[in-house]
Amino acid sequence: MKTIDGKSLAAKMRGEIKDGVEALAKETGVIPALAVILVGDNPASVSYVTAKEKACKEAGMASREIRMPAETSEKELLETVRSLNEDASVHGILVQLPLPEHIRENAVIDAISPEKDVDGFSPVNVGKMMIGEECFLPCTPHGIIKLIEFAGMDIAGKHAVVIGRSNIVGKPVAALLARRETNATVTLCHTGTPDIARFTREADIVVVATGRPGTLTGDMLKPGAVVIDVGVNRIADAAKPKGFRLVGDADFESCSRVASAITPVPGGVGPMTITMLLWNTLESARRFARLTGCTTAEKMV
Ligand code: GUN
Repeated sequence: MKTIDGKSLAAKMRGEIKDGVEALAKETGVIPALAVILVGDNPASVSYVTAKEKACKEAGMASREIRMPAETSEKELLETVRSLNEDASVHGILVQLPLPEHIRENAVIDAISPEKDVDGFSPVNVGKMMIGEECFLPCTPHGIIKLIEFAGMDIAGKHAVVIGRSNIVGKPVAALLARRETNATVTLCHTGTPDIARFTREADIVVVATGRPGTLTGDMLKPGAVVIDVGVNRIADAAKPKGFRLVGDADFESCSRVASAITPVPGGVGPMTITMLLWNTLESARRFARLTGCTTAEKMV
């Protein structure tokens, strides 16, 4: 059984992204910049946002941090997003989810300019992904495809079972796996599926993204399956310095006895999500430089 090392793939790709950032700055004077908005102080969100900002800086990108109190109104948040849409020095905008309950998530996502939607959540980018047009792909699903390929599996012709139908992971990863380029046969299971094990036992690849520890256990797997565990769940643990430990949605111990490869939590999917965010932000800055015709040569004239 192989543990799929997301950290090592992420490190390799982040090195390439850093080189791309340097080359873009040298050729065009454009430094990719990501604006990250966090509303409130949900501990998991604070930790994700901090990791995203740190990764930006390590890749040589600029990161604009916008922290807003939990009481922020939807109108204020929409105004902040719109002003970032207009700001030519910002190439990517990310609003960390979930948002406080009084704010309509869809209204906020809709307000982000699709050209700066490096999360790939806006209806325009989701629609383009579904019809195979060039767009920003959502970071976690795109990172999952890269991880499966990194594990040495040829996805074409395989049966992939996705558990969970969220807009952030389940639905888009099912769509990406089924694309002609990837060519898997896909089954999407969710809370309305009476017997999930019936499907997972037939699967060559299982992607589990439910936010519930223990969703997938070894007895639900076909021997040799590849397991991608998207869950990040905090379990109280007095023995740990922070008072909790992180576990995925799959029961690692039993699954690792049956699977041929599995992503660990932490250190599997998580580092890839941030890597694909950097990738999209670099791509957005490149497009901006192309569209505005920036070159350092011109700037010197
Ligand atoms: N919350 C959990 N995952 C994500 C993500 O990939 N992007 C944003 N913006 N919020 C999230």
